[in-house]
Amino acid sequence: MSNTNRQLILRSRPKGLLASGDLQLVETALPSLVDGQALARVKYLSMDPTMRVWMAERDSYLPAVKLGEVMRCFGLAEIVDSKTPEFKKGDKVVGLVGVQEYVVIDERDKNNFQKVPPVPFVSDTAFLGVLGITGLTAYFGMTDVAKPEKGETLVVSAAAGATGSIAGQIGKIHGCRVVGIAGSDEKCRWLTDDLGFEAAVNYKQPDWKEKLAAATPKGIDIDYENVGGDIMHAVLERMNLHGRVVLCGLISGYTKEDPALESFGMILVKRLRVQGFIILDYAPKFMEAAMQLGKWKMFGKIKDRETIVEGLAKTPEAINRLFTGGNIGKLIVKV
Ligand SMILES: NC(=O)c1ccc[n+]([C@@H]2O[C@H](COP(=O)([O-])OP(=O)(O)OC[C@H]3O[C@@H](n4cnc5c(N)ncnc54)[C@H](OP(=O)(O)O)[C@@H]3O)[C@@H](O)[C@H]2O)c1
Repeated sequence: MSNTNRQLILRSRPKGLLASGDLQLVETALPSLVDGQALARVKYLSMDPTMRVWMAERDSYLPAVKLGEVMRCFGLAEIVDSKTPEFKKGDKVVGLVGVQEYVVIDERDKNNFQKVPPVPFVSDTAFLGVLGITGLTAYFGMTDVAKPEKGETLVVSAAAGATGSIAGQIGKIHGCRVVGIAGSDEKCRWLTDDLGFEAAVNYKQPDWKEKLAAATPKGIDIDYENVGGDIMHAVLERMNLHGRVVLCGLISGYTKEDPALESFGMILVKRLRVQGFIILDYAPKFMEAAMQLGKWKMFGKIKDRETIVEGLAKTPEAINRLFTGGNIGKLIVKV
C-alpha cells in the first residue's frame, strides 16, 4: 500500500464546463490512523451532475465545496486498514469518498457510509447506479412523487441517463405509456428497442417538438424532469390537467448562469411543494366557504376594504389601477 494519497482539489470555480486546472491533482501523505478510524481505498467514483452544482460559489442542498478542498464525490471504497470494530478489512462501502485514492473514515461517520452486501451476480458498480443513488432517486421520484397510474403518459428527460432510464422503466412497470427524451438516435434506440419505451425523441433533431407531440397524443400526465429549460417548457405545454411534475434535476442550467433556472431550482433544492389551483374547481364548496368567511368578518377576525371607482366609463382606467397599484383591497367599479 502506498504512503501517499492522490487527490483532486477544487482550485477554481468553473465557468461553464470544467476547464483544466479547476480541479488540481495533488499528492499528500496518507495520515496514520488513530483509534476509531478506518482507511479505505477508493475503487469507483460516481460521476453525478450535482458535482458541478457543488463547485459553484453558492450553497445548494449541501454547502459549496470550498476552494482548496478535496472535490466532493460519491463512490465505492474498500477498507484496507482499520482501527475500529465498525469496519473490517475487505468491507466495501459507498458514501461521499471524495475524488481521491484513499479516504479516512471515522466511526462517528459510519452512517454516511453504507456497507455493500456481497450479492451474487451483482457488480460493485451497480451500487453506484441502479442500486445506488441514481436508481433510488428514480424509485422514490416515481413511486412517492409521481405515483403513476396504469395508462398514464410519462415523459422522462435525460432518459438514457442513469436516473432517467430507471425512472422510465419504473413507469413501464406501473403500466404507463413511456416517452423518453434523449440527445442521440443511438440513445433513443436503446430506450425503445431494449427498455421498451413506447417512443423516444432526440431533442437534437430540429423537429423534436413535433415528434414529442406525436408521441404524446393524449398529452402528458407525468413529467420526470431532469433537464429544465426548453425541454421542460415543451413538456409542460403538453401536460394534462392534474398532472404531476417530478422536479428531479435541471441539468441544462448547471453550467450556465441562468437566473430563471436558478430560482426555479429553489423548488428542487428546498423541496417546495408547488401546486397549481383554479378556484372554479371549488364551486361545490363556495357556500360553505362564504359562510365561514362571513362569520370571521362578523366577529372581526378578518377585515376587508374596498376601493370604489365611480362610472362605467372609468372601467379602463380602473383595470389599469390593478397594474399600477391604485387600489387597496377589492377594486370595484360603481356603474
Ligand atoms: N433530486 C435528486 O436527488 C437527484 C439525484 C440524482 C440525480 N438528480 C438529477 O437527475 C438528472 C440526471 O442525473 P444522472 O446522475 O442520472 O445523470 P445522467 O442522466 O446519467 O447524465 C446526464 C445526462 O443529461 C443529459 N444532458 C446534459 N445536459 C443537457 C442539456 N443541456 N439538455 C438536455 N439534456 C442534457 C445528457 O444526455 P443527452 O445525451 O440526452 O443530452 C447526459 O447524458 C440531473 O439533473 C441530476 O441533477 C437528482
